[in-house]
Amino acid sequence: MEFHVYESARAACEAAGVLLAAQITRKGDSVLGLATGSTPIPAYEMLVQWYERGVIDFDRIRTFNLDEYVGIDHKNPLSYHAFMQEHLFGKVNLRAENVHLPSGRSAMAGAAYDEKIRSAGGIDIQLLGIGRNGHIGFNEPAEEFTYGTHIVTLAKDTIEANARFFRSADEVPRQAISMGIGNIMAAKCVVLVATGENKAEAVYNTIRGPITPHVPASILQLHPCCVILADREASRLMRE
Ligand code: PGA
Repeated sequence: MEFHVYESARAACEAAGVLLAAQITRKGDSVLGLATGSTPIPAYEMLVQWYERGVIDFDRIRTFNLDEYVGIDHKNPLSYHAFMQEHLFGKVNLRAENVHLPSGRSAMAGAAYDEKIRSAGGIDIQLLGIGRNGHIGFNEPAEEFTYGTHIVTLAKDTIEANARFFRSADEVPRQAISMGIGNIMAAKCVVLVATGENKAEAVYNTIRGPITPHVPASILQLHPCCVILADREASRLMRE
């Protein structure tokens, strides 16, 4: 694992944008694994700026998102489909047929998503945020790791954390469909961004703790190409 600390949250997130842009530059038909949440927004802003300046081109890029809520229409502004449209897809020249988000509520929908990733040749670079509880995608702490794309019941902590986007915690969907740990581990390179004091414990447990499904991100210790980018607050426990 590589671990880099930045003075600001913005710088940590922009550094992830640099790595994505480098991948796009080196391989024009790269497969990007994308994430939603507050953390990746500055990375997407950088990608949009570089696209507008003609530095990077998305014409042949393919994308697969980590997750989506179950039971929310894709047009709902709180859906991850809408988030991606607002922050990236609607602002660059990605082809509609090349962008993918998991959807549906069945095991078959999950298997179909896994097959799409496989037939695209696998993910070249996977962008990740991290939950306060150590989740990646919506792979919540559990008794075991789940390999493929699957339906998840969101943890209480995740519902509370995501309530800020909804009118109240009651409105946060209780289920999501998420890429599994196996999909994430199969990516050629993984870039995890963690910012803010409330991620410090998750960062510490991910890097220094035992590998356990109770801290899903800890499995990344076994990934051959994993880069963790954190700001000072999120890396606080790493310095003690
Ligand atoms: P955040 O979410 O970027 O909004 O903090 C990260 C996550 O829950 O994976």
